Amino acid sequence: MAKCNPWLIRRLCMIMRQNFAKSCEDKLNDQINMELKACHQYLAMAYHFDRADVSSPGIHGFFLQASIEEREHAEKIMKYMNKRGGSIILSSVPEPVPQFEDTMSALKHALQMEMEVNQHLLDVHALAGKENDPNLCDFIEANFLQEQVDGQKVLADFIRQLERAQTDVGDYLFDKYMISGSMHGNGQQAKKH
Ligand SMILES: [Fe+2]
Ligand SMILES: [Fe+2]
Repeated sequence: MAKCNPWLIRRLCMIMRQNFAKSCEDKLNDQINMELKACHQYLAMAYHFDRADVSSPGIHGFFLQASIEEREHAEKIMKYMNKRGGSIILSSVPEPVPQFEDTMSALKHALQMEMEVNQHLLDVHALAGKENDPNLCDFIEANFLQEQVDGQKVLADFIRQLERAQTDVGDYLFDKYMISGSMHGNGQQAKKH
């Protein structure tokens, strides 16, 4: 009888592993690595905008927080992987884009990256459906899909506001002024009805 590889047996037969396809495990590992790649890219962006010859502390703080959140996403999936009896496989993180011409190009790069991450999450969800894995579908829906859409809207808003600030300062400032105004002077943000 051929000798079994104990490592392989351990990997494939975690005692609580149930209804967790190898294809889903592989796709989740790809997702973990994408989140870490985004973490690395946001960290590079944050410290580009912290340079003395750039000096944009607001953008620095925004990208630094984004980097922390991406690492949290990776760890959330790693924790989930262990709950399902999968094996975490981290790959090397690609070198991030180190510098940006201006804030606009960094924001556009961030939006493009988030849309790629979101597409991969949608692919994970579709695969989980195909493999009849409702637990994985639920995990992705509950923890990632809405947050991605919300984050992409924030980036798209910033891009548009920065465009307006550059081309139509009066209109941009008037909108900022309107945020604290209201029809009846109660100091709340003006709302659409
Ligand atoms: Fe993420
Ligand atoms: Fe993100």
